[in-house]
Formats: sequence, structure tokens, C-alpha cells
Amino acid sequence: MTKRKKQKPAPGAALPVDALFKDKRPRIDDFDFGKRTAAVFDDMLDRSVPFYAEVQRMMGEMAADFAVPGTNLYDLGCSTGTTLLQLDPLVAPDVTFIGTDYSAPMLDKAREKLTHAGFKRPHELVCSDLNKGVSITNASVVILNLTLQFVRPLGRNQLMRSIASGVNTGGCLLLVEKVLSPNSNLNRLFIKYYYDFKKRQGYSEMEISQKREALENVLIPYHADENRQLLLDSGFSACEIFFRWYNFFGMIAIK
Ligand SMILES: C[S@@+](CC[C@H](N)C(=O)[O-])C[C@H]1O[C@@H](n2cnc3c(N)ncnc32)[C@H](O)[C@@H]1O
Repeated sequence: MTKRKKQKPAPGAALPVDALFKDKRPRIDDFDFGKRTAAVFDDMLDRSVPFYAEVQRMMGEMAADFAVPGTNLYDLGCSTGTTLLQLDPLVAPDVTFIGTDYSAPMLDKAREKLTHAGFKRPHELVCSDLNKGVSITNASVVILNLTLQFVRPLGRNQLMRSIASGVNTGGCLLLVEKVLSPNSNLNRLFIKYYYDFKKRQGYSEMEISQKREALENVLIPYHADENRQLLLDSGFSACEIFFRWYNFFGMIAIK
């Protein structure tokens, strides 16, 4: 049985705390994934995404079952490489990991973390923009963990078709997204519960509201059913929800 390695910060280095929206901003610009965000991103995800660690663990066990020796595993929007590191001890060693992101600072962090962890398996970190398409080949697993929501809606159908065409029969896609509820009351309540969660994680009302404003035109969530339809229309067959917490959901789709 393979043992999961617990991720540790570099010796003597505490996880840098996300205080990006702590101070009152005179003007709220669109959220971006540049250097300042990359520097605190691990803490941001840890404190902003409900059950982040558990979803990573679940993706690990599913990826381990679907990954086939001699194929590729893609993590699209891999950020600082957390998922690739979590998956490494669980997935057969002759599966090549390919992490992609359009943010060079995120990939720099990922490279740093992989090096620090002594990551040995064949892998690539590729800087590319999903809005311009993607090239997927010989894939047994593709992961989109909180990434599709940042891709322009007009391009999502084409993108998902390109992904599906590069997945081998029997391979899977793991999609985790923020979602909208079709019922406006429930939608409002779920968002309120989410902001209450963020308060429990130490974010102030001002931080929450400034970040919400910054994300408004950048993070465009679909309904869970729209995501399911998108996957079915793109060439995946069985789709099943594996995670749900208010306005967050995870779905596995098999080709
Ligand atoms: C919320 S983070 C993903 C978290 C990560 N998958 C994980 O498991 O820790 C979204 C990532 O998607 C990347 N991203 C957003 N839009 C993108 C695009 N159009 N093309 C490529 N990457 C994109 C961002 O740079 C960011 O690193």
C-alpha cells in the first residue's frame, strides 16, 4: 500500500498568510493570479475552499483507480502544484503528470514546491491559457479543480470537447466548481453560509466583500446541471456528483 506524504512547508518557512484584501482599497480591480496572489495562494485556498483537503484526498483515490500506466494525467489550472503533489504517492509511477496554468508566478511556485518535495516522476509544467484551447493526448485522468469557472463561458463547450477527445476510453474527468443554485432563495442562503464559513476562517467582512467584488467579472459559476450537461454534450458518459457543500460541487465523468 502506498502511503500519502503530508505536505510540509519548507523548513523554517511558515505558510504565508493571505491578507490581500485586508486593507480598504480605494478601487477594486478584477482579481488576478499574479505574483502577489501566488505568494499567498496556498493559504487562500486552504481558508477559502470548504473541505479543500478532503476533496484533494478524494481526487487522489479516484485518480489512483483511473490512472493507467503509460498514459498522462493532466491538472489544468494546477496553480502551485498542490494537487500534483498530493496525487504523486497514490498514482502508478509510470503515469506522466502534466500541470498547466496561464500564470507564470503560480508555475514558479509549483516548480519550487515540486523541487523541494524531491518530485521524481516524469512531469511537465506548461504555461498556457485555456481560453486559447488545450492539447490533451493519451489521458487517463484530467482534473479541473476550481479552474473551469475562470474560463470564458463562450469557450467552455469547445474547451470541454477538446479535453474529452484527448481522454482515452475508460478515462475520467474530475471537475470541481463553485456552482449556482437555480432557486434564488437557496442561492442567497448558500452564499451567506459560505461567507459565514470564511468568517470562521478568520476573514473580515471587508476582506470578504472586497474579494467578492474583485471576483465578480472573473469567476462565472454555472449551475450543477449545466456542468453535467456540458460534460455529457462533450463526449463523457457516466457523470456522478462526488462532493457537494452548499455552492461547491465535484463531479466525476467517465469517457
Ligand atoms: C482556484 S485556482 C485552482 C486551484 C488548483 N487547481 C488546486 O487544486 O489547488 C485557479 C487556477 O486556474 C488558473 N487559471 C485561471 N484561468 C485560466 C486560464 N484561462 N488558463 C489557464 N489557467 C487559468 C489560475 O491561474 C489559477 O492558478
